[in-house]
Amino acid sequence: MLAFRLTAAGATALQDVPVPEPGPGEVLVRVGAAGACHSDLHMIDATAPRHVPLTLGHEIAGWVEALGPGVTGFAVHEPVGVYGVLGCGQCAECLRGRENACRSGFGGIGLTRDGGMAEFVVVPARCLMPLGGLDVVRAAPIADAGLTPYHAIAMHRCALQAGSTCVVLGVGGLGHLAVQILRATTAATVIAADIAPDALALAKRLGAHAVVDTEDPDAAVAEIREHAGAADVVFDFVGLSATLDIARRVVATGGHLSLVGLGGGTLPVSPGGWTLPFEVRITLPFWGTRAEFREVLALAARGDLTTEIQPFDLADVATAYDRLRAGAITGRAVVVPGGARA
Ligand SMILES: NC(=O)c1ccc[n+]([C@@H]2O[C@H](COP(=O)([O-])OP(=O)(O)OC[C@H]3O[C@@H](n4cnc5c(N)ncnc54)[C@H](O)[C@@H]3O)[C@@H](O)[C@H]2O)c1
Ligand SMILES: [Zn+2]
Ligand SMILES: [Zn+2]
Repeated sequence: MLAFRLTAAGATALQDVPVPEPGPGEVLVRVGAAGACHSDLHMIDATAPRHVPLTLGHEIAGWVEALGPGVTGFAVHEPVGVYGVLGCGQCAECLRGRENACRSGFGGIGLTRDGGMAEFVVVPARCLMPLGGLDVVRAAPIADAGLTPYHAIAMHRCALQAGSTCVVLGVGGLGHLAVQILRATTAATVIAADIAPDALALAKRLGAHAVVDTEDPDAAVAEIREHAGAADVVFDFVGLSATLDIARRVVATGGHLSLVGLGGGTLPVSPGGWTLPFEVRITLPFWGTRAEFREVLALAARGDLTTEIQPFDLADVATAYDRLRAGAITGRAVVVPGGARA
């Protein structure tokens, strides 16, 4: 089968590899679609990747193809989403259902073991979530681009009451789903900010109450403050120093900062140095829990969440990542091994 693999620092290749065999407790999934996440670009750019060679792709939906020894409860051809987080299952956080905060370290399908940018992927059976009637291709990004903002929003729900204002910085794969989750599950006013005009148009269409161009950061800060005064919650889905600085300058005293984007920027925190207002709370969320995956899929099933997708054939996966890097994807690029036009 074809698989798009990270082979060394900065090096990727579409390779012909054997179809993997499901071991005990595992399932072979025929990939219906896999989303191209900006985190894959960070992995490609890492100077010393720890898991190579590795098939990329951690946002997966597809159909059960074969059950490994001992697996019951799934039917062949059943449509499934893949919960990609792999915790140890035994530490205090895993036992609380928070595998995404596993104390034994960080693991994930397409991060530390082969992922879904391929025709097939093998995953532990406990990772499978029935998709019901959801479209498999549109469902794939929900496994991360939907789940991660859902979890980040849940962490700050107490500050997202009626009359409060939040800011979404970066309306890409994660951000465009964040806007919809905020509208569907909170009463907060949503201001969406991006440098790309197409992203701002999408945010407006998906229900943002206001949109702000961040090309000129000073003007963006002034405009956000005009709308919001100061923001109760700022979600940064970019993580560059430029966006962290906007977040710092617009957050209210007692407000919340949710730093989701992994852009490698720096936010100075200096008690007494007046870098941040008093009483601010900062979180660094990672992915989400299995229960939250079920909940965010339910939002999609109810029609409150629609993934804006740009489909690519598996043969064109490198082009999908090139476009993502160039900022030329609106919504989420999804790779469809069965054919983007199928
Ligand atoms: N913490 C987690 O668990 C987690 C999970 C998934 C992704 N991520 C990270 O979240 C980030 C976003 O991922 P994505 O797949 O949505 O990326 P994406 O490329 O789809 O979207 C990024 C968006 O940010 C916008 N942007 C870039 N520079 C900007 C600026 N200066 N001001 C405003 N907007 C700007 C882009 O135009 C684009 O719309 C990445 O860093 C990714 O690694 C984190
Ligand atoms: Zn991701
Ligand atoms: Zn654990």
